[in-house]
Amino acid sequence: MKKIKTGIIGMGYIGESHIEAVRRIGLCSLAAVADTNTELAKSKAETYGIEKCYNSVDELLADPDIDAVHNCTPNFLHTQINEKIIRSGKHLLSEKPLATTYKEAQYIAELAKQYPQVVAAVNFNYRMNPMVQEMKSRIANGDIGEVRLATGSYLQDWLLYDTDYSWRLEPEVAGNSCCIADIGSHWMDAVQHVTGHKITEVMADLATVIPVRKKPKKQTETFTSAVPSEYEEVEIKNEEYGAVMFRLNNGARGVYYVSEVCAGHGCYFNFEINGSKASLKWNQEENDRLWMGFRDDDNRFIIRNPNTISAEAKPYTQLAMGHPEGWNDAFKGNIYAFYKYIADGGKGKPLFANLDDAAYIVKLTEAIVESSKKRMWVKVD
Ligand SMILES: NC(=O)c1ccc[n+]([C@@H]2O[C@H](COP(=O)([O-])OP(=O)(O)OC[C@H]3O[C@@H](n4cnc5c(N)ncnc54)[C@H](O)[C@@H]3O)[C@@H](O)[C@H]2O)c1
Repeated sequence: MKKIKTGIIGMGYIGESHIEAVRRIGLCSLAAVADTNTELAKSKAETYGIEKCYNSVDELLADPDIDAVHNCTPNFLHTQINEKIIRSGKHLLSEKPLATTYKEAQYIAELAKQYPQVVAAVNFNYRMNPMVQEMKSRIANGDIGEVRLATGSYLQDWLLYDTDYSWRLEPEVAGNSCCIADIGSHWMDAVQHVTGHKITEVMADLATVIPVRKKPKKQTETFTSAVPSEYEEVEIKNEEYGAVMFRLNNGARGVYYVSEVCAGHGCYFNFEINGSKASLKWNQEENDRLWMGFRDDDNRFIIRNPNTISAEAKPYTQLAMGHPEGWNDAFKGNIYAFYKYIADGGKGKPLFANLDDAAYIVKLTEAIVESSKKRMWVKVD
């Protein structure tokens, strides 16, 4: 079988995870990387033994060897780079959010429809945790009854101090939202994915917890805790805390909160779905188990086990029970889903988030920002 040749644009924090994932998937091979930061691109190409290294998107897209391109650049570049990738006829795997505005997200989603040979995905990687897939399968089978409530949070601490800084705080680079666009987007995608229902109304309270931060004068790595020696004090506009009440299209209610200023939390992504018969709860920090709760029976943990897991979840778990799989494995699982879909000829609705799914998340993010500003419920669909 001919391998699908991959190029990755953006060699920052997440670009490296893409390199590692691609390297683990037999369906594809990593041909090239690109970054406008030449030194960074060169050092990643050397570290990982990658044959080609480019300084620009255009150079990488002009390479006829490359079949699929991952866009791992900051948010404000997603629309223009995704457009170039789609128009080049190469398959697209974009990082989230799809765009910084719904107008642009919709434009890209519609543009892709004019290129039916292009498979396009957005990297909502939490979907492919095997126990998240298991949750989806059990909810679809009616194991918890009718979905009534969805609750949870996604907490991190990498913006805890005023010396912590990221482009995610800058509206010109990230769009008008920091934590909702960055981690709330994952939370909403996961809940919609497992329940099969859409969030159609939101009521939000967003806050900028640290209104002035020390912005480093030189480019720094995302999630670094190093205190910059040279900085300027800047006013912060985007939020690092957001709480959202919502309604799903089946009438179910929900609430979640996200923040990057919660000391002690690295990646505390958790959610619980309460149905008319039972509840299911998953927490990414203990991602091999699913809690199932009953009123009239014993509560239980369902432990990840390739021998007993549902057929839908089975392709996304490899190791025998008790051998921990983690964030990297689920991340690889989502990228594997993308390449498997291409290899199988791109038929049917994929398991990964397509551009319409991702555009809807941008629409929700905009509605959440609007709701918080107006202090009122906003209808989305
Ligand atoms: N799916 C996930 O779990 C996850 C996790 C982290 C980040 N992300 C997403 O990935 C994207 C990148 O985030 P990050 O944390 O890696 O950012 P980062 O700042 O660490 O890296 C971005 C890289 O893009 C490069 N770049 C900027 N402009 C470029 C251009 N025109 N052409 C080529 N390269 C360019 C920068 O030099 C930098 O190396 C964001 O959209 C973010 O939301 C997703």
